[in-house]
Amino acid sequence: MIEEQSTLNDAEIKRIAARIDRPIVLVGLMGVGKSTVGRRLASLLSRRFVDADEEIEVAAQRTISEIFEDFGEEYFRDGERRVIARLIEQDSCVIATGGGAFVDPETRALILDRAIAVWIDSDIDTLVERTGRRSTRPLLKDGDPREILTRLYEDRKPFYSQAHIRVLSHDGPHVHTATNILEAIDAWL
Ligand code: S3P
Repeated sequence: MIEEQSTLNDAEIKRIAARIDRPIVLVGLMGVGKSTVGRRLASLLSRRFVDADEEIEVAAQRTISEIFEDFGEEYFRDGERRVIARLIEQDSCVIATGGGAFVDPETRALILDRAIAVWIDSDIDTLVERTGRRSTRPLLKDGDPREILTRLYEDRKPFYSQAHIRVLSHDGPHVHTATNILEAIDAWL
């Protein structure tokens, strides 16, 4: 497991970037910082960043909450599967996925086969604090967020732990998580 104190200089980042020949797909629970870390990581690598949830919203012309309300979760998961498959085909970008994407067997198999899967992991306190800043997540609307996140963590851990790489992200700056990911990828490749 990689802890949070890494720093890399420009030459090291360039060297690692040149070795990365696949998309990097960030997986993990709501609130771990996949989108923020993903943006940082993409900018370090001079690659495109794509947020799968945003792509789904564009394709559906609705917010994630509206998709859940109007069509239900199954419809959302269907769109999520198709959007992620399309993104992985496109180029070696950095992709942030919604927290449930890697639980889907088809999506998980595709990511594991064609991309570098990075599980961003965090403690529940941090997730509760971060997800509490916005109320846009349909799965956290009905019930106590801590209970829901704890249950989701237990349910999904067996899937997330299949990712090629696991990196911890607690309260430190997201740029550290991004450089930790690069170091972990360098060691894994
Ligand atoms: C979900 C996570 C959300 C979004 C949807 C469902 C989940 O994405 O895809 O609300 O099942 O965990 P974030 O992980 O980016 O919040």
